[in-house]
Amino acid sequence: MRRQTADPVRFAERVLGFAPDAAQREILRNAESRTLLNACRQWGKTTTAAALAAHRLVTGAAESVTLILTPSARQSAEILRLVEDLALRAGATPVGASTRLLLSGPGGARVVGLGASESSVRGAPRGSLLVIDEAARVSDAAYKAARPLVTAGGGSILALSTPFGPRGFFWREWTRGGSRWRRYRLPATACPRFSPEFLGEEREAVGDPWFRQEYLCEFTNLRGGLFPLEWIVRAFRDDVPPLELP
Ligand SMILES: Nc1ncnc2c1ncn2[C@@H]1O[C@H](COP(=O)(O)OP(=O)(O)O)[C@@H](O)[C@H]1O
Ligand SMILES: [Mg+2]
Repeated sequence: MRRQTADPVRFAERVLGFAPDAAQREILRNAESRTLLNACRQWGKTTTAAALAAHRLVTGAAESVTLILTPSARQSAEILRLVEDLALRAGATPVGASTRLLLSGPGGARVVGLGASESSVRGAPRGSLLVIDEAARVSDAAYKAARPLVTAGGGSILALSTPFGPRGFFWREWTRGGSRWRRYRLPATACPRFSPEFLGEEREAVGDPWFRQEYLCEFTNLRGGLFPLEWIVRAFRDDVPPLELP
């Protein structure tokens, strides 16, 4: 096996074949605790998450268990295939099969893909890191079932997504989840990989509301509504206890 690097950024540079940008480097180095990454389409969310998981798989010991939750078992398996590929490029041969949603690394670290249903999440092992990709489309039930798998043992959560309207746990944690979460918002306009020409063409092709969701990372209410979303979000207060009716 080739020399392994303890630094996830150096590892990512080596196996991805390109240099992660500043925000990606920050995520790779600081994936501890609770992180919400609200980034545009094609930003590199899945790639960054897979590089992080591969680094842990290749360098971690048995207590390193990375759980991958997505809207479907098929998507989780796809990420595991990517993780497996990156580990191979690092010179490590993971044991297990991405199709069976389990990979083991040379030091005993594991990456486990979860199914999307609440019951399949419940059967999963405890993890040190929970990665939730396409988080805005993962059900609240699956999120609630997965949380204690990591939080009970002091593990971390990294949720990555493009917004999908004012609904679901990703939106709730983003707007009302309090100071436990570190939040990153990465619109395409701040990403050097998207040219103004491309973005102009996309805005014309998909329409303004969809463009604001997909590229500007706004929790746009695409169904249309009486009030702008910002007014509704601002109307929520945490200092007023909910009215409990008998
Ligand atoms: N820093 C980067 N430099 C060059 N290409 C990148 C970078 N980050 C991501 N990419 C590429 O962008 C594409 C989209 O990445 P992906 O992870 O699928 O995006 P997302 O999950 O955010 O939609 C991939 O081909 C990936 O290799
Ligand atoms: Mg993706």
